This record gives sequence, C-alpha cells and structure tokens, in this order.
Amino acid sequence: MTVLDKSSKDGLNTPYFLINEQALINNLEKAKQLKEISGAKLVLALKCFSTWGTFDTIKPYLDGTTSSGPYEVRLGHEKFGGETHAYSVGYSDADIEAVKPLSDKIIFNSLSQLNYHYQQCKDDASLGLRINPEMSVAGQDLANPARPYSRLGVKQSLLDLSVTDKVDGFMFHMNCENKDVDAFIKVLDHISITFAAYLDKLSWLSLGGGIFFTYPGYPIEKLGLALKAFSEKHDLQVYLEPGEAIITRTADLVVSVIDIVENEKQTAIVDSATEAHRLDTLIYNEPASVKEASEDGQFPYVIGSCSCLAGDQFCETQFAQPLQIGQKLHLLDSAGYTMVKLNWFNGLKMPSIYFEKVDGQIEVLNEFGYEDFKGTLGR
Ligand SMILES: Cc1ncc(COP(=O)(O)O)c(C=O)c1O
Repeated sequence: MTVLDKSSKDGLNTPYFLINEQALINNLEKAKQLKEISGAKLVLALKCFSTWGTFDTIKPYLDGTTSSGPYEVRLGHEKFGGETHAYSVGYSDADIEAVKPLSDKIIFNSLSQLNYHYQQCKDDASLGLRINPEMSVAGQDLANPARPYSRLGVKQSLLDLSVTDKVDGFMFHMNCENKDVDAFIKVLDHISITFAAYLDKLSWLSLGGGIFFTYPGYPIEKLGLALKAFSEKHDLQVYLEPGEAIITRTADLVVSVIDIVENEKQTAIVDSATEAHRLDTLIYNEPASVKEASEDGQFPYVIGSCSCLAGDQFCETQFAQPLQIGQKLHLLDSAGYTMVKLNWFNGLKMPSIYFEKVDGQIEVLNEFGYEDFKGTLGR
C-alpha cells in the first residue's frame, strides 16, 4: 500500500474521501464502553461502511460484521473476521451455497425463506429470523422498516412457537439515527413483553442498527444498563448492528470549486455530485455541511454538483469570503452510506479514498481512473 507523508495532505487531488483514524477511534472507544456495560456484542453493518482498508483499526473493538448481500458476507469473512452474520431480504439457492461456509449466523427475512432453505443450511450456521416489531424510531418513511405493508421481517400474527425449533435467534431492526435513549427503551420494552414466549426459547437476539450512541451527550450508560437488564431477563446474548454510529463524523468528502455561475443565486460548481458520490444527500434530502462555511457569512452560495441532474446540489450555505475557483471545500460527515454507494454516473472522476492515520501519515486506500469506469461496463 502507498503511504504518503503528512506534508502531502494539502496537495491531494480532489475529489477524495479523507477518513480520520483518530475520529474513528473516538467512536470505537464509545462502542467499547457500551459493550462493557451491556454485555452486548457489536457487529459492524457493512451496508453502511465497507472500506476494508480501515478494518485493522476497527477489529480490536467490535465482534464481527453483519451484511445484507452475499458479497458483503464474503468481505466480512475475508477482511474482518470474528463473527460473520449473513442477512438478506431474499436468498437464492446460489446465495445460500455461497454464504453458508462463511457465516456464523444466517438470518432470514421471512418464514417462507426460512422453510425453503432450512434443510440446506441447518447444520452449517446458527439460524435466525427477522421480526417486524410493528414499532420503530425512524425519521423518514423511506427508511422505516415498520412502515405500512413493510416487506422487512415477520409480524407477530404470523408466528407460532414452533419457529423456535428452527431458529436460535431473532433479528429486529427498527431504528434510524435514533438519538433518544428513552424512545429506544420503549421499543425494547415492547419487544420484551410482546415476544416474551419466543425470547425465552432463543439463545441470541439482534436489535439491529440505527442507535446513535456515539452522538455527543448520548447517555451510553443508560442504554448499556437497559440492554443488560433485557439480556439477563430473557437469558439471551444481545447483538447490535451499528453502522452510522461507528463512522459518524470520521470522514470528509473533499472537493474543489470548478466554476461559479449566477442565476439569481450564486452557485459554486464542484468536482463531485451527490448522485454519484453522496447519494443519500439526494435520496433523503439531507443537505451536506461544509467545513469552510460560516454561520454569519455574507456570501451565500449553492454548492452545486458536476452532474447533469438539474436538482443535484450538496447544500446552500454562506461563507465569510467569496469562494475562489480551485478552492477546496470539505463536505463533513461523509463516511456512511457514501463509499458503498459510489457509482460512475456521467463518467465523473471517482473520489480517491485516503486514510489519515493517528501519526499523520496518509494511507492511499484507493485511487481510480478511466480503466475502472470502463471496466464496470464491459471487458
Ligand atoms: C438490518 C440492519 N442492520 C443494521 C443497519 C445499520 O444501521 P445504521 O447504519 O443506521 O446503524 C441497517 C441499516 O439499514 C439495517 O437495515
């Protein structure tokens, strides 16, 4: 791997992601504290962050990985180790053949999937079933697993106790960026009461991701004690599947101003696009924050993307000084659900991925070129 001296930082060519190891460790220390208080095991949700060049930093703190598709299972097994949990909304026969030698747990999304694949994998892994608790703390309907007609997980009315002859565990996932510990505890109490008869027969239970325990001021001890009491009450090994909580505020997407155009508002066009490099900005309509912006700045700009999509912009913000062509801007908090969703729309230059280590050296995790673009579309 190429390692650059810290003096090269200012000269890196945009666009690029810069992941900060110290910030990652700060989050991981909170995860460690939560594990110690609660006794829960934590598996990294690869759907959120799979940049495996950072895994040596993360591994000592977490127990393994969880996944949403066969390639994530393989990556978790190969590059992270520890426990590998496989979950998928739908496994084909080929998927099960691929994941079963690699997985410690295989979690099914429906009773039909469990029954269909049961014989094929019952001796290879501990099996689990995703349950829809019909209660959630998720800001947007698009990301709410308990939304009406949800296809994610089995409702209680479809279950009977015989399911525990086939599975050792249940998985619930019903939070999205939930910063409110009391709201989480309400859902936990609901699960504890509603599913008590099942829980007492299971040996493990995953409560999914979406609990924002690394958010500044989050009461980790209260969460930890609630999880501990729950796991003791039902005699279960509890798992959490954090994604965003582990990598929040650890990476910037660094871009350059390419042009400034005016149409009633000033738009700074940068060498990146939400649609290609920061997709959730667009999908969830959540504007990016820019490090160089100033709350009371007198120079407002739209930070516009380089793609052809008319509404593709990172945010509107203001600066203390007019922006200059060539100036770098840091789009903050760009680690989660970004690098895993990168695409080549418009043939834009793919952001490089750099890892700034605690000692200031910069590991080059990847840099991309035309051949990578071409190679995704044919050989
Ligand atoms: C089943 C499951 N587990 C874990 C996660 C990770 O959630 P987060 O990144 O919000 O912690 C998700 C996110 O969608 C999920 O669907």
